[in-house]
Amino acid sequence: MSATLAERAVEVLTTADARAKTALSRRHAAEWRTARDAGAPLPVGTAAPPPRPARPDAPELRHPRDVPRRKPGTPEGRIALLHAVAHIELNAVDLHWDVIARFAHVPLPLGFFDDWVSAADDESKHFNLMADCLESAGSHYGALAAHAGMWRAAEETAEDLMARLAVVPMVLEARGLDVTPGMIEVFRKAGAAEAVAALETIYAEEVSHVAYGSKWFNFLCGRNDLDPKDAFHDLVRRHFHGPLKPPFNEEKRADAGLPPDFYWPLVERA
Ligand SMILES: [Fe+2]
Ligand SMILES: [Fe+2]
Repeated sequence: MSATLAERAVEVLTTADARAKTALSRRHAAEWRTARDAGAPLPVGTAAPPPRPARPDAPELRHPRDVPRRKPGTPEGRIALLHAVAHIELNAVDLHWDVIARFAHVPLPLGFFDDWVSAADDESKHFNLMADCLESAGSHYGALAAHAGMWRAAEETAEDLMARLAVVPMVLEARGLDVTPGMIEVFRKAGAAEAVAALETIYAEEVSHVAYGSKWFNFLCGRNDLDPKDAFHDLVRRHFHGPLKPPFNEEKRADAGLPPDFYWPLVERA
């Protein structure tokens, strides 16, 4: 008797070691896909996710103010950047399994779970790519301090699936689309081919995560007879603290089904 998808999600969330977490995540994703392709999907089930995912002892988590900044033009700066992205990707692995476990009781088409399992699998690959780049540069994930506030968006939206979709994929992951091209340039200028290739993979795959957010947000608006734009503005204003920051990557945001009238009004906070 194999574990349900929700139980598997909790298993990933409660695994502390980063490489063990991503390996388990990738294995669960492959098993979910195999069962789906065979026409015998794993049961979704329900489970109680931990309030916060298990994390390794290192990196030390600090208030963003106390994480030292380094110039990206230096080798140390580039290592710090890779480390920050690795930390974001590990957090994203947990965020995608958390949305599965925390909202497994909400009746949804199986495609919802296909999408977030696939996103969690991507994030696991992304963490591994960043960790590999760090190791090639003589460092490793855990060598530097990292932001402590990453789970805040999950806690803010733990009670409301629409708020979770609005804030995590449609605000935070969309922001990734805005900033990644600049990051790729930093590594291209430095001739860091491995990092360029890894970040290009991440950039290409993140569009689908924003698109999954937008797809299921619109689905739930339709189910609840809500206007998607108004609902998005309302939920982001209530659950995301601070304005959205231009410049926006309008092209990739459009690819992901995020129109300008969703995000531009949130630049100015009334
Ligand atoms: Fe990612
Ligand atoms: Fe993502």
